[in-house]
Amino acid sequence: MIRERLGLPKRRAHRRLGAGERLLALPSGFLWGAATADQQIERQQPSDWTAFEERAVRERRGIAGVDQAARWLAHKSDFDSHVADDVARAADMGHCAHRFSMSWARLFPREDMAAPDPAGVEFYGRVLDELHRQRMTPFVTLFHFASPAWLWRPDREDRRGIERPDAPDRLAHLATTLIDAFGDRVRHWCTINEPVVLAYLGYLEGTFPPNEKRGGPLAADAVLAALLRMHESAAAALREGARRRGTSVQVGIAQHVRTFVPWRNRAPLDVVTAAVIERLFVRRFLDQAMPSCDYVGVNEYGRAYVETELRRPLAYQVRHADPSDADDDASELGWAPDEHAFEDRLVALSRRYRKPIYVLENGTAEAALDDVRRQRQLVRHTQAMARAVQRGADVRGYFHWSLVDNFEWAEGFAPRFGLYAIDYDAGCSRSARGSVEVFRHLTRDNGVPAELWARLGR
Ligand code: BGC
Repeated sequence: MIRERLGLPKRRAHRRLGAGERLLALPSGFLWGAATADQQIERQQPSDWTAFEERAVRERRGIAGVDQAARWLAHKSDFDSHVADDVARAADMGHCAHRFSMSWARLFPREDMAAPDPAGVEFYGRVLDELHRQRMTPFVTLFHFASPAWLWRPDREDRRGIERPDAPDRLAHLATTLIDAFGDRVRHWCTINEPVVLAYLGYLEGTFPPNEKRGGPLAADAVLAALLRMHESAAAALREGARRRGTSVQVGIAQHVRTFVPWRNRAPLDVVTAAVIERLFVRRFLDQAMPSCDYVGVNEYGRAYVETELRRPLAYQVRHADPSDADDDASELGWAPDEHAFEDRLVALSRRYRKPIYVLENGTAEAALDDVRRQRQLVRHTQAMARAVQRGADVRGYFHWSLVDNFEWAEGFAPRFGLYAIDYDAGCSRSARGSVEVFRHLTRDNGVPAELWARLGR
């Protein structure tokens, strides 16, 4: 009962859409694309993450499979040498938009720089030229987990990184620089990627730089407040830059919206804890950031189960999949997708914030070239989006994570998220996974064709 009242999905119910499902089209003008991030695909720049990667190699810990990763970290997916052909690959799938981030450390490798590094500006100018040539709309992220190493040198009061009092001005400076350089070609901006994940992994779990373990879910509050200030000042700088140019911008953040469900349906503590985590992890930051956003950016990776310990009331663990559930369809990272939760989430976010929604990430880890799980996910999530639109959600675009295999942060190179597989030892050559063909059909029909539904939807 209480679950229904709290509006939580049923724990066991991995409801699959049925054979009689009426296939729906997305609205015309819907933006299809893929998403990437600088630190995950480009050659290393002097960022906090690069420093962490180098330390992980030296100490042989901190990044999964670090001995093998050591060979590949410097070039990652070598997007630097593949700009034109990667953009062409995306266009060939029918993508009409592309989300990527511009490396803060590449543009401002030193603290004393007022103007950006010309080679960095030239590089991203080239990316935008290729997108323009392919008639694709760019979505640019300013801060996707990695920031310049110099930001992390402690000041006199031992504050560093995100918590430096000048961090909001620094990000605003990057924003102003980029809108001045590229404002003629970029209208859609995302200030910060997944601020809550950054705070959680960097300051509570300690697996991301700065690798702190502050203890207790509220211990990262100061960091979240700092991230909110960074977002707000960057958003203001983008708007001001656009005003100067006489153009308009669409500014948002990318929020990770994992759906937290109780591990046991009838354990009230699981139910309540899942609802609390959901609120802290998903809703709280969005509520605070939305007044300064033009759209809701959604990164969706399925569900997570919350199990409390009856003897220790505040102790809980989060599981990403339920191996006893045949419908879980967990990825190679052990994450269970949930297209129904996705659909409901889009409807709920639309009702709550009354702003357009862009799905800025959604994807799965699967290495096989015949990536059936990813194909299923693409098809089912497309139909789920179309259903959400039919229920009134203003969903305007979908960016699949990711275009090519990439560096999956502390998980190293083993999880493969790419529509294209990469052979890191063979000049980072790219091979299409089965999903590429599936994606082509989705963009061609602006929705799921019946043949694909029959094969992959149910
Ligand atoms: C992040 C990406 C990451 C992906 C898969 C998102 O949380 O924005 O950088 O690679 O999920 O884990």
